[in-house]
Formats: sequence, C-alpha cells, structure tokens
Amino acid sequence: MTNSEARALSAIESKTDLQPDWGLSQFDPWDRRITETNIWPIYRAMREAGPVVHSDALGGFWSITRYQEVRAAALDHRNFSSDHALEIGKQNWTGRPRTRLIETDPPEHTRQRKAMQAPILQKRMGEFSDGIRTSVKELLGRIAELKEFDIVTDLAEPIPQEVLGQILGFDLETRRRNRELVRRFVHADLATSEDAHADFWAFLIETIQDRLRHPGDDFLSQLCMSEVEGQRFSESELVGMLHGFALAGHHTAIDGISSLLIHASKDDVKAAYIADPSIGTQIVEETLRCDPPIHLEGRTTTTDMVIGGVAIPAGESVALLYGSANHDDSFFPSPEEFQPTRSPNQHLSFGYGIHMCIGLHLARLEMNTILDEMFKWFPSYRLTGPPVGTGMVFGHHMGWESIPAAIE
Ligand code: HEM
Repeated sequence: MTNSEARALSAIESKTDLQPDWGLSQFDPWDRRITETNIWPIYRAMREAGPVVHSDALGGFWSITRYQEVRAAALDHRNFSSDHALEIGKQNWTGRPRTRLIETDPPEHTRQRKAMQAPILQKRMGEFSDGIRTSVKELLGRIAELKEFDIVTDLAEPIPQEVLGQILGFDLETRRRNRELVRRFVHADLATSEDAHADFWAFLIETIQDRLRHPGDDFLSQLCMSEVEGQRFSESELVGMLHGFALAGHHTAIDGISSLLIHASKDDVKAAYIADPSIGTQIVEETLRCDPPIHLEGRTTTTDMVIGGVAIPAGESVALLYGSANHDDSFFPSPEEFQPTRSPNQHLSFGYGIHMCIGLHLARLEMNTILDEMFKWFPSYRLTGPPVGTGMVFGHHMGWESIPAAIE
C-alpha cells in the first residue's frame, strides 16, 4: 500500500471510528466497531451524561452506567427481571425455551442454581487445584520447547476446556467441538447469531440425550439423574444448565487469562509481583476490573422505575453496564490505570446479586494458578507484537484473538 493509500484508509477509518458522544443516544453493543480502546471514552461520556442513558438502537433500551446504580439494579432482581432479557437486542429469539440459569427468575432460578453450583462451590476448589496446576505445568513445558507462542491458543484456551471437560465428562473430541461451536457463536453478529446458536443448541441437546441414555460418573450425568425438591429436571432445563457451563464457563475464562498475561507482561507489574508474590490475587482482580470479559447483561423492568431522576417504564429493556461501572471514577480512583495492588477492588466483573457468576471461584483459581506458574517458569516472558482483540462480540463480550509472546 502506498503512503497516500494508507493515509486515505486511515481517514476512512477515523471517520468510521466511534466518537464518545455516539454512546449518548446510539449505543449499540452489537456494533462491531466497538474495540477494547474506544469503549472507555464512550462509557465515560455516558456516565457523565447520567446514571441512566437511553439508546435508540435495537428498538430502544436503557443503559445503567454508574457503579452504585448498576450494583443496586443487579441486586434488585424483583424489579429487574432476567426473564426475557439476555443480551440486549436478542429478546426475540424464537423456538427455544428460556431455561438458562442466567435468563430465569426465582423460583426456577433458585432450584437450578442450587444444583448447578454444587461442584464448583468455593469449598470444593481443593478438588481442582492440583489438576489445574499439573495441566498448567504441562503447557508451560511445551512452551519451553516452542520459545515463541500465542498466549491465547497455547495457554489460555486449554485450561478452561480441560476443567470443564472434567466436570462435564467431555472427551477430547467433544471439547474440540464445544470450543468450535462456542467460537462461532460468540463471534456471530446479530443477523447470524440465531443460526450459530441453533447449532450450538443442537450439540447441547445431543449431549444431554446421550447422558440420559448412558449416564457416566461425571457431574453432568449426576445432574441429569438428580432431584431437587423431589423433582427431576426436564430435558430442556438440563440443556439450559449445560449451556451455562459449556458457554458461560468457557470464553469468559479464556479472556480473563489472556488479559491477565497481557497486564502481567508489563515491567512495573512484574517488578511488583517479584518483590511480593502475595499480590498475585490483586493482579488477577485488577485485570478483571480493567478488562472485564463480560461488559454488560440485560434485564427487563417489571415495574415503573425512577433511577437518578430518569423514569423507566415497566417492560423496558435495560443494560447493566458492568464494564462502565468498573471504570467509574466516583468509585475507583484513576480507573483507567492498572494498579497491581489496588485495594479495595469491588469490581462487578462477575455481576452482583442472585445472578452473580457461579464459576467465579473456578475462574479465579485458574487465573491465579497460571499467574503463579508463569512467573516461576518464565519471569521474563514478553509480548512480541500487539495483542489482537475481538472487539465487542455477541453484544456483551470482549476478548482476544491472538497475543504473540516469547520466552528468553
Ligand atoms: C473470568 C471468568 C468469568 C467471568 C468474567 C464471568 C462473568 C459472569 C457474569 C458477569 C455473570 C452475571 C450475569 C448477570 O448478571 O446476569 C455470570 C453469570 C454466570 N456465570 Fe460466569 N463468568 C466467568 C466464568 C464462569 C465459569 C468458569 C463458569 C462455569 C463453570 C461460569 C458460569 C456462569 C453461570 C452459569 C452464570 C449464570 C448465573 C446465574 O444466572 O445465577 N462463569 N458470569
């Protein structure tokens, strides 16, 4: 490309780049122009405009922008229902029962959550810690031979897949298929997401039907056979529950680990860790605050509400902007700075209230173990090129395609 062509291209790109005031009336989380760089000034403009901002996109919806209001709404599941509201703009999916934990309200939610969280409660993390550490060491052993590697594919992807594979009784081929379907699904746009979702859903149905016919000794089989309050789960409930593990437990953790290893490659973060390895957990939390894998979740108001003087009628779609809340400077001083020892750090990256992530202990264990072993094995690892981000995908999720890195 000649210099003048490059200049012309950059002029076009800057025209199509999103300006912060776009967020004030047109915010559309499905817009593929949203990147890990331009989203923060957009959120800032939205927060400055008020705790609630209306968007005309996707048929019209409201965004809650500031920390205190986001947290209060996440806690208020009676007035902010999760039924009907999933990713903003996707409420009209047809032909699929709404049985995913994340899109149910009590009492269905309470019943499902009790069963689903059983194997991954905090007190059970000891059952995973040795296995995760062994897998991480195996991966690092391979990286020792490679010298140059990709943080996403060589380190971040395999661990959540392996852990979920164990819980769900997935063999290697099923893990690979799950990953492929999830990747296609979360990278789909609003127009193609329904087809991508249908394929993923078909895989989930097939898996549940197989477990119902041939139960094994994995947790998914136990779930299929279990009773809560004297009742077995229906096939469609089981499919919804499997969805929670196979999707929600997958790409989020991959992106959390990837972001962690980007931040940890910076000299000041390395120096802080080497001086005091006990700050590892704080580095993990600061990564989750700064670069949340999930930027927002949807709700529907069940009653007329007034938030920060703005009236939101009943039956409206509302986005809880967890990502924006994490960068609210009325709650987090200098929110755009990565502070390895930030404390307190009550970020909302796992949500809040009854829908708070059930996999948070597992995700934290995976991230902390990888950080610990990475610094033991390769304290001088470095990035060899700019990380390639996904931008905002699937209307709420932000992660990484590739992060080239090397060891000495
Ligand atoms: C860094 C990793 C992760 C992040 C950032 C994350 C983020 C979130 C967020 C923000 C929510 C709240 C949704 C809402 O407010 O409606 C959530 C819920 C959920 N997460 Fe995670 N998650 C992660 C890892 C996991 C893992 C490892 C699993 C499973 C093994 C998992 C399974 C779920 C499920 C099933 C829900 C629904 C909970 C409910 O509705 O009661 N997540 N997650």
